[in-house]
Amino acid sequence: MNDNLLTVNNLVKRFDISGGFLEQLAFENGKLIRKHTIVRALNDVSFTISSGETFSVVGESGCGKSTLARTILGLYPPESGEIYYSKKRIDNLSSNKMLPYRSKMQMIFQDPYASLNPRKTVHQTLEEPILFHKKSISKKEVREKISEVMMQVGIDPLWGRRYPHEFSGGQRQRISIARALMVDPEFIVADEPVSALDVSIQAQILNLLMDAQKERGLTYMFITHDLSVVEHISTRVAVMYLGVLCELAPAKELFTSPKHPYTQALLSAIPRVGEQRSGHIKLRGEVPTPINLPSGCVFSARCPYASEICKKEKPQLKNVGNNHFISCFL
Ligand SMILES: Nc1ncnc2c1ncn2[C@@H]1O[C@H](COP(=O)(O)OP(=O)(O)OP(=O)(O)O)[C@@H](O)[C@H]1O
Ligand SMILES: [Mg+2]
Repeated sequence: MNDNLLTVNNLVKRFDISGGFLEQLAFENGKLIRKHTIVRALNDVSFTISSGETFSVVGESGCGKSTLARTILGLYPPESGEIYYSKKRIDNLSSNKMLPYRSKMQMIFQDPYASLNPRKTVHQTLEEPILFHKKSISKKEVREKISEVMMQVGIDPLWGRRYPHEFSGGQRQRISIARALMVDPEFIVADEPVSALDVSIQAQILNLLMDAQKERGLTYMFITHDLSVVEHISTRVAVMYLGVLCELAPAKELFTSPKHPYTQALLSAIPRVGEQRSGHIKLRGEVPTPINLPSGCVFSARCPYASEICKKEKPQLKNVGNNHFISCFL
């Protein structure tokens, strides 16, 4: 369990949303200038994921979770920083050299309706990745693999000729998971895999993911905006705010003694049965846009404890003991 499967060092990702030349022109102090508008989606993100772990990334909408997932999987080129998979650097590989990693690293998306091709049957959807990655495989082996994986995710293999619209949301997400499992991956990035589902179905899908992990020794990066989902399934949790990791700790530690003011506020918002509420921490203001990031700590504008230093300097992620990291001057 303890060897590093994925290492991310100082990852930075920006999007230039300036538009065309005419859209970039603006008047400032009576002069015509050309303005660039940059979204700072990931700002110096570093962490490692050990083999066999369920590493969760939580944060509000727009904080950069999906961008992090896509950059790790090579779907977006990073601005700077390094990504290592099994000690091999992968962020600068050509698409050909990236191919073997594409089958080891798979992604499950939030909306199983949008991520499944409506014109393809379940069978066609499931055979596609394996035919692409294992060119020499026989038709019989493909059929056997499809049956095995469909049974594992709890979909009757006889339904292989049906189309996505003939399934419920929960069943469609099972098919998405089956598609990811077809190529025997090691590492799965699940981007909000249960957010679109009913609460009762959420638990079933989470159980399915956990069972698949046990049977296949999978490593997960689990992305969600819902802290209550990750408490029981994660080994470690990273809390993200405006493209920065504010806190990273073993799951139990994070839920029992959160240290960053943002994590404390997020946790205080989760309703719990049978527990005296020690007071809901209300945050001031709204999440600033990642276009004009505040200088200093990205959370300082909303932090109830912010002091002068927080507005001027950027805190670094530091170990405060027990593998508990926070980026905060407090
Ligand atoms: N392709 C893109 N082009 C321009 N900006 C983008 C692009 N993708 C993401 N962004 C911006 O980067 C920021 C982070 O977006 P991202 O989708 O990673 O957030 P998220 O945490 O996944 O949010 P959600 O919980 O809503 O899925 C947002 O401000 C978003 O507008
Ligand atoms: Mg997202």
